[in-house]
Amino acid sequence: MTVRWNATKAMRHLDSDPTAGTAEAYGELLAKCPVARVEVEGSKVDWWAALSHAELTTVLRDFRKMSSTVTTERDGTPAIIPLFADPPLHSGFRKLLNPNFPPEVVGRLEDGIRKIAVEMVDAIVAAGEVDFAGSFSYPYPTRVLCLFLGVPESDWPVHHEFVLAIDRLSNSNLSDPESVMFEEPFRDIAPYVLKVVQDHRENPRDDIINSFITGQVDGRSLSDYEIVKLTIAMMLAGHATTTAALANTVLRLAQDPELQDRLRAEPHRIPDATEESLRIDTPQQSLSRKCLADTELGGEKISAGEYVLVNYGSANVDPARYPDPGKFDIDRADKSHLAFGFGLHACLGQHLARLDLRIAIEELLARTSSFSVNGDVVRRSWPVLSVNEMPLQLNAAASAEVK
Ligand code: HEM
Repeated sequence: MTVRWNATKAMRHLDSDPTAGTAEAYGELLAKCPVARVEVEGSKVDWWAALSHAELTTVLRDFRKMSSTVTTERDGTPAIIPLFADPPLHSGFRKLLNPNFPPEVVGRLEDGIRKIAVEMVDAIVAAGEVDFAGSFSYPYPTRVLCLFLGVPESDWPVHHEFVLAIDRLSNSNLSDPESVMFEEPFRDIAPYVLKVVQDHRENPRDDIINSFITGQVDGRSLSDYEIVKLTIAMMLAGHATTTAALANTVLRLAQDPELQDRLRAEPHRIPDATEESLRIDTPQQSLSRKCLADTELGGEKISAGEYVLVNYGSANVDPARYPDPGKFDIDRADKSHLAFGFGLHACLGQHLARLDLRIAIEELLARTSSFSVNGDVVRRSWPVLSVNEMPLQLNAAASAEVK
């Protein structure tokens, strides 16, 4: 029998309970079925959800039947490339983008990112009591993205305002995934981005926007409009997700003084902690695909034209894949997870995100002797699991006090 799942309702208790975990939230559902019918109040379309690790990877592999072209502009082109594009359009753009993202390329930003992290950690430690979300996890990824895009760091408030506007819209697209939801904020930011592109044309430098200007897709150069759209795509893809990953990791640490001390003593294990955080508190819990041809998945018949949620959050706590999935265990043997997606659309920015996270956590732990939650935490749980408010009490490290 088909199981019905009301995602927003089922996940809501995580919003106000910072100790509640996704493994418990998905446990009963995963025990019942690998694929469920999704109930979305007032939705214009029918949704399924691929919940288990096995079914999710099946959908992500089957890009011919499970299209990413969900949200389009009025002329039918994908609203965001490469995220909402299918091959062959996707392949050409991905080829252009790929060389900007390997670890050795993003690694060149390490010193610049550390400078930002140190300045921001010093400020919150000096304040002693802060809302970590407002003062760190929201602005930090935007400042890093300015560095990555080769725009003056002082521009970060412009980027920030834009991504917050998109953030507010993204939560409502389940009811009508084909609506042109990004049109207005895109129009507002486009003149600023065009100026950035013109500046890059006049003052060429070795960065990602330069690669859009000088590179080709399928043997042709890109128009200014395409370059602006690609740049906006980078601003969007890299923000809410990194903000969420950072806040979720810091929330875990703030609630676990033993883990903090262990990582202060063994900072080389910080990447294991951030990977475990990405698995257990997956930032992008869910994205969508459109089914193009009738198919069977997890015992259910999915018809052409129906929509499928690719639910990374449940797959990452699937007990069939991860023993004791609700345990935050940095010593876990299997360190793989699906938080960065899988296959054709696997996250391009994952090495940059890992660098952002590692440096921020290294500096936070090194410059404090302890930090803890000292007020009400407000999370939002689905389709992005993140923290909107996190009052923290921070105690400076002995070495930092001497300075
Ligand atoms: C912790 C932070 C991040 C998480 C959890 C994350 C998660 C994801 C996920 C799940 C996908 C797959 C989408 C799909 O299957 O349709 C994706 C794609 C993508 N991500 Fe990330 N992301 C993060 C950071 C970043 C950063 C920093 C950037 C770039 C600056 C970035 C750029 C992209 C792009 C361009 C795609 C589309 C790839 C394609 O469609 O071929 N991401 N990301």
